[in-house]
Amino acid sequence: MAIFIPEDKLAEIRHTADIVDIISERVVLKKAGKDYVGLCPFHSEKTPSFTVSQTKQIYHCFGCGAGGDVFSFLMKHEGISFAEAVDSLARRYGIDLPTRKMTPAQKTRLSERQRLFDINRQVMEFFQSRLADRTSGQTARAYLKKRGMRPDVIDAFSLGYAPDGWDALIHFLNKKQIPLSLAEKIGLIIPKENNGYYDRFRNRIMFPIFDVTRQVIGFGGRVMDDSKPKYLNSPETPLFNKSRSLYGVHAARDKCRETGMVYIVEGYFDVIALHQHGFCNAVATLGTSLTAEHVRLLKRGFAKKAVLVFDPDPAGIRAAHRAVSLFINEGVDAAVLVLTDGYDPDTYLFEFGAEAFERASAGALPMMTFLTESAIKTHGLSIEGKVRIISEMEEPLACIEDKVTRSIYVRDLSERLNVEESAVMERVQTAAARRKKTASEPFFEKQMASALSSEPMPSDAVRFEKRILSMMLGYPEILPEVEKSGALNYFSDPRLVRMANLILRHAQSGKGDLPELMNRMEEEEDRGIVASLAMNQESWDRKGCLGLLSQFVQSRTRRQDTLVAQIKAAEASHNHDLLVHLLKEKQQRAINRH
Ligand code: UTP
Ligand code: MN
Repeated sequence: MAIFIPEDKLAEIRHTADIVDIISERVVLKKAGKDYVGLCPFHSEKTPSFTVSQTKQIYHCFGCGAGGDVFSFLMKHEGISFAEAVDSLARRYGIDLPTRKMTPAQKTRLSERQRLFDINRQVMEFFQSRLADRTSGQTARAYLKKRGMRPDVIDAFSLGYAPDGWDALIHFLNKKQIPLSLAEKIGLIIPKENNGYYDRFRNRIMFPIFDVTRQVIGFGGRVMDDSKPKYLNSPETPLFNKSRSLYGVHAARDKCRETGMVYIVEGYFDVIALHQHGFCNAVATLGTSLTAEHVRLLKRGFAKKAVLVFDPDPAGIRAAHRAVSLFINEGVDAAVLVLTDGYDPDTYLFEFGAEAFERASAGALPMMTFLTESAIKTHGLSIEGKVRIISEMEEPLACIEDKVTRSIYVRDLSERLNVEESAVMERVQTAAARRKKTASEPFFEKQMASALSSEPMPSDAVRFEKRILSMMLGYPEILPEVEKSGALNYFSDPRLVRMANLILRHAQSGKGDLPELMNRMEEEEDRGIVASLAMNQESWDRKGCLGLLSQFVQSRTRRQDTLVAQIKAAEASHNHDLLVHLLKEKQQRAINRH
């Protein structure tokens, strides 16, 4: 895995990069005793079970079992490779990595992703230079000016211009000796039917799309007249996933943290106009609807409250309906801001100014209230109207998993409509049951599949074995005794044996530290298990350790003796089936031991 990154460099990075610093840039952490806790970025939860230990330099989630060191956190969180995680930390802390020592093959593998990011950055700079160019960029500059864009904001968002014609970018790529196959991978050029390529983006204003770490993951491009399509975006690529990305995150984060709030809008220009008017805490979806992943991204690194700016048209209301359950279930407060008919944030700000927007935004309605009020607007408060409203509201209410929260909203709605609360509740519960039924079927299949794929393991036995591992991690002085006792020979879980052996070898190589040990584990699940065992706060002493060891060995030899005795008995009574079963069991135990 880390063969080409020297151990001493890894150690240097590890000792420089504090896991609490790195994680708290991405997850809101609170101090709790010696450790830090926060909401787990890897699964959905409302009470924090994600724990980071500063002294041990590891993290662990008691909810979903994820765990590891600073490298594995970045790998999982950012979806990058080990080498990339090392690289990004090295860069950040100004530690030189001797990349030259890599073989060409390693270099290719390691850096393909980085290479793709580099290409995107070079292409972004190419588009910027075309925008700045006196002749080529003239129309585009005029267009941006007409739309009121200030030069500093154009700069902050690195806007550019993709020249007209079919091969302006291809020329540039060739000049820079960038392989066209790579450019195709990230959607910059499109293969022709026979052979060759043509530029995807032609004669468009270009909006580079950044991730939180300012890497260019894709582009959006707008025409400058009424031709269609108005916007063209990069397709899904290894770098670009629309349901996980939001436009503007790189520029929004600081202000989001400062204000505790994020505006979610629909368009590129809306984000930029908001920014220009001082509302830097704005992001936009990329022409797709909002997903749970978007909400989680915002929740973990940005803000606990969102103001959604939807168009007041039926499509906007439908979008608001869909978004409700996402926000409520992720525990993010959301409100809906409806601007004057026919305006989006961009046109609104340029026409009425920042103060008017601020006032409008103060009047944003809480999600559910917004849904109720817009339903009342459509259906009216006649008897039939109320019936329709309740039908329309039963689904979003049924999405609320938390029963208390749900009942509060149900009460609000029944009061607003002046109908019996229990009647509304009944409807909502029926809808919830319906949801559960359809949702539970695939889940059941998944559980079956996982049950079939993994051998059942006697849980008491495994618990005992885990405790030994936990002891080995918490009191390394005992390791020689563990080896002497032969306890590992009696382990029933092959994974735990493998991990225990790794711990022993790691200690013998003279490196005690835990993150380093984790780096030697190839499997993410192993790292998670080690993290969880190491988080154990039990204080061990020599006597306690020896006691546990001998207790374990005794209980296992007893089991072993019993097995031998059972086999003898089965032989004597000619119970063939039982004999086969017992022999298999014995064989299995022997295999596990090696
Ligand atoms: P809008 O049509 O509301 O445009 O699309 P806008 O952002 O207000 O753009 P301007 O102000 O006319 O320049 C909102 C978003 O939907 C996506 C884009 O992400 C856009 O910002 N979209 C729209 C597309 O992906 N393709 C399209 O053809 C149109
Ligand atoms: Mn617009």
